[in-house]
Amino acid sequence: MKKIKKAVVPVAGLGTRFLPATKTVPKEMFPIVDKPSIQYIVEEAVQSGIEQIIFVNARGKEAIEDHFDTHIEVETLLKDRKKEKLLEEVQSLTKLASIVTVRQKKPLGLGHAILCAKDVVGNEPFAVLLGDDLVDASPPCIQQLIRLFEEEKSSVIALMEVEKNQTPLYGIADATQRKKNHLPI
Ligand code: UTP
Repeated sequence: MKKIKKAVVPVAGLGTRFLPATKTVPKEMFPIVDKPSIQYIVEEAVQSGIEQIIFVNARGKEAIEDHFDTHIEVETLLKDRKKEKLLEEVQSLTKLASIVTVRQKKPLGLGHAILCAKDVVGNEPFAVLLGDDLVDASPPCIQQLIRLFEEEKSSVIALMEVEKNQTPLYGIADATQRKKNHLPI
């Protein structure tokens, strides 16, 4: 069985629940301490063995792929000012993984966004990480899922329990029938 080396990361949503903050700034770029949330996601994928990140992005949210690209002006400035540590940090972002971007031309939902990556993924197993969903887990959540996929040889998904009154806010799966491989993260 082929190893999972590709991760699809849909980031093309409109982020309406965070308006007006998301009018011009993608929610995936909101900072958590000193990094945008998308960086934590990509780092988690890379730590879990992913080599290629496929962003499914949309018009107006280019800041996301730019974050992982070279920024000549910033790098030159940091070099001139002898800020070696910061320079290293900024440059390391460009080497994290191979980054590919495909476009979702209309925000038709998460399932459609993943389908937009079909041609780039090809006929091999892949991971999906949501661009705005951070899971604080050790080992990383996606690594746990990849291991489980290798054991079970079937698709696996991570779920989060929510209170009944929060169910209108999420896509809901009934996981009350706990199976043998229902792992707590
Ligand atoms: P959300 O369910 O948070 O949807 O998407 P959203 O559209 O971004 O936000 P709201 O509901 O308007 O507030 C989960 C992830 O899937 C991506 C989002 O960018 C986010 O990272 N997504 C969502 C897409 O790529 N395309 C879509 O059509 C919808």
